[in-house]
Order: sequence, then structure tokens, then C-alpha cells
Amino acid sequence: MRIIVTGGAGFIGSHLCDRLVEEGHSVVAVDDLSLGRTENLAHLAGRADFRFEEVSILDPAFDTLVGEVDFDAVFHMAANSDIQAGSRDRRVDLDRTFLTTWHVCESMARHGVRQLVFASTSAIYGDVPEATHENHGPLIPISFYGAAKLAGEAYCSAYAHRHDIRTWVYRFPNVVGSRATHGVILDFVEKLEKDGSVLDVLGDGTQEKPYLYVHDLLDAMLLGWDRVVPAPLEVFNIGPESATRVRSIAEAVVAAMGLRGEVEIRYGDEPRGWPGDVPRFAYDLGKIHALGWKAANTSDEAMRRAVKDVLAERSAA
Ligand SMILES: NC(=O)c1ccc[n+]([C@@H]2O[C@H](COP(=O)([O-])OP(=O)(O)OC[C@H]3O[C@@H](n4cnc5c(N)ncnc54)[C@H](O)[C@@H]3O)[C@@H](O)[C@H]2O)c1
Repeated sequence: MRIIVTGGAGFIGSHLCDRLVEEGHSVVAVDDLSLGRTENLAHLAGRADFRFEEVSILDPAFDTLVGEVDFDAVFHMAANSDIQAGSRDRRVDLDRTFLTTWHVCESMARHGVRQLVFASTSAIYGDVPEATHENHGPLIPISFYGAAKLAGEAYCSAYAHRHDIRTWVYRFPNVVGSRATHGVILDFVEKLEKDGSVLDVLGDGTQEKPYLYVHDLLDAMLLGWDRVVPAPLEVFNIGPESATRVRSIAEAVVAAMGLRGEVEIRYGDEPRGWPGDVPRFAYDLGKIHALGWKAANTSDEAMRRAVKDVLAERSAA
């Protein structure tokens, strides 16, 4: 198939490009490099079945690209993943998280692309104490990022119904692994590289969330894409069955960097890491499990593997 991966130079998008090319698809990765890095795709350069285009989805050049050949599918991974930027400027998630999605849907409708895979998030549920099923409602996000993704899901649904676009909406948990461009592990590593004597943790360390290894995420996404024919839209939660405390991540990073006993880990006072953070969440995973997928790594295993990956990458750089 001919596939566009938006956000292809980012963390998940670049791993997705690898997998799609490996499985015999022809891939065009699109990224404006606001957060992504060309290094994440350097190993694919020169292949006949892969191309990278540095373009913003918000630019008319993106629409031209979608109309260039008969694409079969778009995997829409582009969004704002910089939480701090989204808190500083409320426009960021409107533009990068919501409007990118609208432009993707609009270009697909204009040029007759019939399959969309959309990267959504647990943040659309808001702060909910129980394990959320895909049919949970009402959906009350507490961050602009969550609101922008929820609006994105709504537009995906309307375009799916109005323009005959089969749509797979995947609600990701926290995803971890190599090539991370953001997230708690990278944050801790970068802080400790600057000052190996102290680690300031956002929140009181009791936040407890499911962490999914990026390769497990791709297995789930591609399995659903292969097995399910949406009519016209299907939503799936994806995650491991367990969760990990932020306190454990701080301790694991300190230990992996050989700094145990040398670092003062300083915790904040609030259970929330930042305004809009959901400190605990869990998914009902029955729907994705029924397809025959379960995360190969527990949340703790995923976290520990990702710590190793991130440190290995940095020492290789
Ligand atoms: N990583 C996670 O834990 C997680 C959790 C839930 C949902 N998601 C979603 O998964 C997707 C991928 O996330 P990620 O962690 O790989 O983030 P990422 O920041 O590494 O990747 C997103 C990419 O989108 C690109 N981008 C942003 N605006 C763009 C624009 N206007 N035009 C073209 N490219 C643009 C960025 O440069 C970046 O490379 C995102 O949609 C994100 O919201 C991620």
C-alpha cells in the first residue's frame, strides 16, 4: 500500500515508518521538524519505498502532496507533544494537535484517500477514577491537548461518515522507547545530565500510569488495522494491564545512570505533575484483547527497557 505517515520524524512516527516499510508498504513521512528529527529516519534514506518530506500539514504544500498519487492510507501521528509549550501558549494545541487533524481529514476527503489511522490519547477521558471503556462518557478532558484530541476524534468521525473514510482511532497511554522526543524518562535523564546531584520531580511522585513499549503499541495498531474493518470508525484503548509510579521511574533512571546514593530526588507537593496532568488512569482493555493482542511488556518492563534505550542512544551519539 501507499501510505503517508504524518509526524514521521517523531518518536512513534519514525518507528511506525520502519515497521510499515519492513512489511512491504511504500511510505511518505511528513514532518515539519518542530519536534521531530531527521536522524530518526536517516537509516531509511535512499530506499525506493521511502521518502521524507519536510512540510507542515498546515501548509497548502501538504494538500498538494496528498493529491500527488493515489495514497491508500494516512497514519496521522503529528501533534504537539510538548506539554510545556502547550501550557505556555493555548494556541499550540489548537494548531498542532487539532488543526493538523482537520487538515489531514480535509485533504483525504478532497483526494479520495480511504483509510485513516489516528493517534489519540487517554487525555480525552479527563480525570476518571475507574478503568475507562471506549464507550465511557461524557468525555471531559482537563487539558487543551486532551480537548484538541477529542475534537480531532469528533472530526475524524464526521469525515468518516460523510466521506467514506475507514478510520481506526487508537487511544494511546504513555508510550516509551528509543528516539523519545519528550516524556518523563527523557526529562529525568536530561535533568541529571545537567546536574547529577539533584533531581526535581514534577508532582509528588505518586502519579501512577500505564507505560507501553513502542514496539508493543505498533503490534496492536497494525493488528487492529489488519483485522478490523471499521464501519466506518472504530475506537480502541491500547495499553499494558499494569501501571508504574513516577517515583519508581525516578529511582530507575538514577540507578541506570550509576548515580544511586549521589542524587537527592526532590518531589513536589501536588499529586498532579502540572496543570492538566491526570495523575492516575487505567483502561478497560477488553476490546483490543479480544483481537488477540496483549502487551508483551508490563508497564515496569517497558519503563526499564526504555530507560536503557534512551541511555544507550545518548552514549552512542
Ligand atoms: N508518546 C506518547 O506517550 C503519546 C501518548 C498519547 C498519544 N500520543 C500521540 O501519538 C502521536 C505521536 O507522538 P510522539 O510521542 O511520537 O510525539 P513526537 O513529538 O515525537 O511526534 C509528533 C511529530 O509531529 C510533528 N509535527 C507537529 N506539528 C506538525 C505539523 N504542523 N506538520 C507536520 N508535522 C508536525 C513533530 O515535529 C513531531 O515529529 C501524537 O499524535 C501524540 O499526541 C503520544
